[in-house]
Amino acid sequence: MSLTALYKGHFIDTPTPGEFRVRKEAVALVEEGKLLALEKEVPARFSSFSVTDLGEGVVIPSFIDLHVHAPQHMQMGAGLDLGLFDWLENLTFPGESRFADEDYARKIYPLFAAELLRQGSLRSVVYGTVHLESTLILAQALMDQNAPDDLKETSEASFKGSEAFCRRLAGQDRVRPIVTPRFAPGCTEKLMQALGRFSQRLDLPVQSHLSETLPEVQWVSQLFPESRSYTDVYNDYSLLGPASLMAHAIFLSDEEIDLILERKATLVHCPCANINLGSGIMPLGRYLDRGVSLGLGSDVGAGHTLAMYRSVVQAVQVSKLLRILRPQENHRAVTLSEAFYLATMGNGKFFTRQGWGPCGAFEPGMSFDALSIDMGLPEAVNMSPLNHLERFLYSGDDRDIKTRILAGREL
Ligand code: GUN
Ligand code: FE
Repeated sequence: MSLTALYKGHFIDTPTPGEFRVRKEAVALVEEGKLLALEKEVPARFSSFSVTDLGEGVVIPSFIDLHVHAPQHMQMGAGLDLGLFDWLENLTFPGESRFADEDYARKIYPLFAAELLRQGSLRSVVYGTVHLESTLILAQALMDQNAPDDLKETSEASFKGSEAFCRRLAGQDRVRPIVTPRFAPGCTEKLMQALGRFSQRLDLPVQSHLSETLPEVQWVSQLFPESRSYTDVYNDYSLLGPASLMAHAIFLSDEEIDLILERKATLVHCPCANINLGSGIMPLGRYLDRGVSLGLGSDVGAGHTLAMYRSVVQAVQVSKLLRILRPQENHRAVTLSEAFYLATMGNGKFFTRQGWGPCGAFEPGMSFDALSIDMGLPEAVNMSPLNHLERFLYSGDDRDIKTRILAGREL
């Protein structure tokens, strides 16, 4: 295989959240999986190479899912009239405990990996279960699909499992571990302390859930009376820093936002899950304006689809709802380009920070991760590339994703 590849198409990305950047009829020069340049024409020195035509639709950076539960894929959509605690107890914990059976994991996890790929999420940060062997099967399934990341979930008795998991993943280049205290109410102080130290000692990222529902916030204040707030709980156990991903973060006080900013932690918005479980609405516009590091996740199975383009639209929609419902609080609507930025460039910053190399847009030096989209519109419609992308984000589906490219490799 040649290390150089040329692709032509209408390229759209969001190097900054403020607006879509459209480069019509451009040629991407890709070398060793990275974008060298996006040119108007094929430069003379590349004239001997053939050019792959990515079609009349649009080419966008592939999606990144920053918060998704692999073992919940099969329960997607089930029991969503319940609130968080009842949903966890009645659907989620029983469903996850089935992964004690490795044969079950072997049957189920490849389907999850295939669906991520089908929906155009070529990188992801994933929760497994406490079962070591099954979660290694998940890691393998994700590697086989070329979706590069997987993680390990740890609960009380399984700190040893975390160490074993990291040891077993050592040397893998497409999957890496992340320390995962599920959420503060599910962890003892001892476990949180051990995981905090562990993540620091091995320089590993951390993921958890933060402030998703009001009853949960209340519960945490009773369980951890020594900590000033829910956010402080993670901070007190050395689990809050630049490599921490905290999902939901709906009910944060100003002091908690200050702490998130100070620690440079990333908040992961999961609008689909928040609506399904009736949890609340994250004030995303406010966080963006305060300069908080943000990402976007499907949160399947509380979210009901792995399609990140759905989460992009939902982020916009719930921000409009928040403005409508609480006019006295001056919330603003988030724009489509801001939400798209989160699902690509914003989420990509986690991978960049973690040493995977830059990704998330079509900038020189970035990993060439791309999807070609074509909604098959009649020629007479003559739609602009940007309108074509907007139409896909709102009303397209996986059938419109024609090509998937990760690090210059067509999948
Ligand atoms: N809080 C603790 N565990 C979970 C989970 O699996 N999903 C969601 N949405 N919230 C959680
Ligand atoms: Fe979650």
